[in-house]
Amino acid sequence: MYLDALLHIKDNMDSSLSLRRSCREGICGSCAMNCDGLHSLACIKAIDKDLSKPSIITPLGHMFILKDLVVDMTNFYTQYKSIEPFLKRKTPKKEGEREFYQSEDRKKLDGLYECVLCASCSTSCPSYWWHPDSYLGPAVLMQAYRWIVDSRDEYTRLEKLSQGGQLN
Ligand code: FES
Repeated sequence: MYLDALLHIKDNMDSSLSLRRSCREGICGSCAMNCDGLHSLACIKAIDKDLSKPSIITPLGHMFILKDLVVDMTNFYTQYKSIEPFLKRKTPKKEGEREFYQSEDRKKLDGLYECVLCASCSTSCPSYWWHPDSYLGPAVLMQAYRWIVDSRDEYTRLEKLSQGGQLN
């Protein structure tokens, strides 16, 4: 995997190389970077077996670089926080009720809850490149949709979305 190559470089050739990684199995999303032209999770992206040409690894596109492959995720996480990505209810719990059970609507969440917030899609999106201050980007919009379609949630978040990522 690309991450193995980078860790080999860091361990044996240049210990100053900076990159993020944690789970090493495509779950945490922290190792997102551009591997040979594709935004990818470096820990689960196999290196091309054709070794006749060099591999090129760069940070996520159009992000401020803190060092080497580490980009500033502040704006992305602030936008994520702005959509209040947690269950919000108006109806109080009934006496003795401990959980809000999901209905058959649970199926609507398939394909939504799996996102690991690596920011690969948002940082590949030209609209996000040009308007990161006013456009939430595909990852955060998808996360907002995940809560909008959750039948247990009683807030639409549309007001937040109509603010276009203007955060306060
Ligand atoms: Fe967690 Fe790659 S290290 S997704």
